Order: sequence, then C-alpha cells, then structure tokens
Amino acid sequence: MSAETLVDTVDTVDQFDSTHDDGCERGDRPVGTARLVRRRHPATRTARAALESDRQHGAVMPPLVLSSNFTFEGFARPRQYDYTRSGNPTRDALAAALADLEGGRDAVVTASGMAAITLVCQLLRPRDLLLAPHDCYGGSHRLFTTLAERGNFRVAFRDQTANDLPRWIRARCPRLVWIETPSNPLLRVVDIERTAQAAHEVGALVVVDNTFLSPLLQQPIALGADLVVHSTTKSINGHSDVVGGAVVAASAAGGEELRFWANCLGLTGAPFDSYMTLRGLRTLPLRWRAHEENAGAVAELLARHPAVAEAIYPGLEQHPQHQLARRQQQGFGAIVAARLRGGEEAVRTFVESLECFSLAESLGGVESLVSHPATMTHASMSPQARRDAGIDERLLRFAIGVEDRSDLVGDLEQALERAARAA
Ligand SMILES: Cc1ncc(COP(=O)(O)O)c(C=O)c1O
Repeated sequence: MSAETLVDTVDTVDQFDSTHDDGCERGDRPVGTARLVRRRHPATRTARAALESDRQHGAVMPPLVLSSNFTFEGFARPRQYDYTRSGNPTRDALAAALADLEGGRDAVVTASGMAAITLVCQLLRPRDLLLAPHDCYGGSHRLFTTLAERGNFRVAFRDQTANDLPRWIRARCPRLVWIETPSNPLLRVVDIERTAQAAHEVGALVVVDNTFLSPLLQQPIALGADLVVHSTTKSINGHSDVVGGAVVAASAAGGEELRFWANCLGLTGAPFDSYMTLRGLRTLPLRWRAHEENAGAVAELLARHPAVAEAIYPGLEQHPQHQLARRQQQGFGAIVAARLRGGEEAVRTFVESLECFSLAESLGGVESLVSHPATMTHASMSPQARRDAGIDERLLRFAIGVEDRSDLVGDLEQALERAARAA
C-alpha cells in the first residue's frame, strides 16, 4: 500500500467551519490561520494548506509573520495575537495543517521534537507511572530516565510487542503510555489499538510518537491515541534544514492544556521554522512515494545479500509484525535496519565505502543516510539498556531518501562486497 491509498476520514477542526460545496473553505478567518481543504485526499490538503489566508494582499502562499509582538487595537482591546511565544499566525498555519492531517482537534508546534516530548512530560506528576518502549528513540529514553531519576515521575521500559502488554498495563495502571511505532531503530511494530484500549481502561493517556511514518502512513488518533508527537525535523519538513516538533491533541481540552504549558515553558517553534516546515509539508505525499519505492528495493537487497545477517523492514514478509504493519499502516516507511556479518572492521569498511549514503543521524530528508545506532543515535543509552533493546555493534540503520533507486541499490551492493572481503 502507499500513501496514495489513504482515505480521508479526518474530522473538521472546529474553529474553521465554513465549508463550500466543493469541500474547500472560503470563509473569513484571521490572517495566517489555515485554509483547510476538507474531504480531499491528503495530497490536496498538504499542497493547499493555509493557501489564500492573506487578506491584506491576497497572496496565494501564506505570509511569513516574523514579528515577536503585535499591537493592541486600542486600550484593553487585544487582537488575536499579542506575543509570538504564545501565538503566531505562521506557526498556527502549520499547527492547523498538522491537526487536520492527524485527525486531531488542535496542535502545538514546538522548537524541536524533544521540546514536544518535554511538553508532554509536563502532564505527569511525581507518583505517576510512564510506560515507554524499551527501544524508543535514544533522546526520549534519556529524557524519561533523567526526569524519573529527579522524581518528576516514575518510568518503566517494556517491549511493547510482548503479548502480555495489555495485562501489564491493567496490573500496573500507568498514567501515560508512550508508544513509538515502528520503533527506532529496530522497527518493532506496536498494536496501537490494542494498547490504547488497555490504557484507557485504567485511565491512562495514550501518546504515539508518529515521527517515522507521518500522518500520511499512520493515523494514531483514529486508533485511539490521545496525543500524537512529531519530530517535524524528519519527513514532515523533509529537507534536513529545520529542527522542529509538534504535539497534536485529539481533544480541544487536550490542546488547551498543551498550549498553556507550551507558552508557560517557552517551547513553541519559531515562525521562520514553521514557514519552512509548512513548505516542506506540501510535498510530503510526493516524497513518500519515492522514499517507499526505494526503501522496498533496499530491504529486498539486504534480505538476500550474504554479507547481511539480518534485514529488518516491516514490509518484508519475514518481519515479525508484518501483518500488523499491513493492517495498521498505509505504508511501510523509509527506514530499513540491518545487522552485518563480521565484526567492527566489516561495519567500518561498509560505511566508509558508501557513496550515496551520508554517515549522519536523523531521517526523513530527501537524502539517504546511514547511521550506527550504538555509537550515534542510541549512544546515550547505557550498554545494558542497549543490550535489552537489541541494539548491538553490527546494527546499522538506513534512512532512505528520494535519490534514484538503482544508484542506491548499486552503491549498497558494492559496499557490501567490500565489507564481506573485510570480514
Ligand atoms: C522518533 C523520534 N522522536 C523524537 C525525536 C527528537 O526530535 P528532534 O531531534 O527534532 O528534537 C527523534 C529524533 O531523531 C526521533 O527519531
């Protein structure tokens, strides 16, 4: 399946309610708020997000409003915006587009993915238990562990693909269940609906980090999530030139609480970054098509190559949660992981032989990347925590870009041959 097959089931965002016969909004609204296009395919909604929202000049593209402050209309007569930390039209345009795509009621755009995760952590109190996956993004693992050590809340890391997870949730009654699926870097797929059901039975909040798939390939709110977190640094911006994040809330009350904390803590994103991210978002469906075609071809090569001990990609039939991924996702994503045969020398030779993959952290950009989680993205985890999560020295993670497929496959082949000779 690809992003093309996605059915638009998104609810309307309640503050924008004037829809015309063609499904396109024409209503009067404050400058900079999103001009949503409802009941349309996501490719239409991303391309047209916030268009024609400028009432001063009739600009087709939304203006970039950099001003940190806004005048009052008169004494005790504030306008919609007063100060950019608390609200900004350009940032709101991006927030509305993300809430629309995720099927949420509200969204807060933050300065980074970690700022979005920090924001969600504010919802926890000292005795609350946070359940997180044992192989979540290393930065999330570090934040949860450090805040728990300071007594901000308690944390338990579990393999969320385990069959007994719902039973564990019912017995331990966490306040918040953090899901990251597919997980980073081992691409374990967690059943969002099943986990959310158990979590809601005990009154827990369900938060899904949807960074790996974006709302085009997975809609956690439709599966029961209360909040969806993004590092928009990744595929949503898509060009590796902005660091940003977002939290989308399923309910208006959830959005209000997040807005309060984002303003209080000063975690909100910059207008320029929001503008760039909205621009990147417009081509997300196009980029996904290329990412996924390339990722499928790379996964197939790695799965059959003798220099590779294990290829990991939810699109491969041998992936343990392949059927769940088929059911839960509208595509398999652009991250592929592999364990090479041989020791450190084979890994080093392989990485140094690649020409079309940059040795760098991050993912979701137009460029292909290779990373070594044990020494890069997950280096901040303790060696024991890495072992528990299955992250060893032979593991590599590939973020597949939009380059030509044959160039990527050919480059990997030549690097694998060299690695095999070095092993
Ligand atoms: C799944 C996931 N969540 C969150 C983050 C943190 O995002 P940022 O780097 O934008 O702070 C990352 C970063 O790599 C990530 O991979």
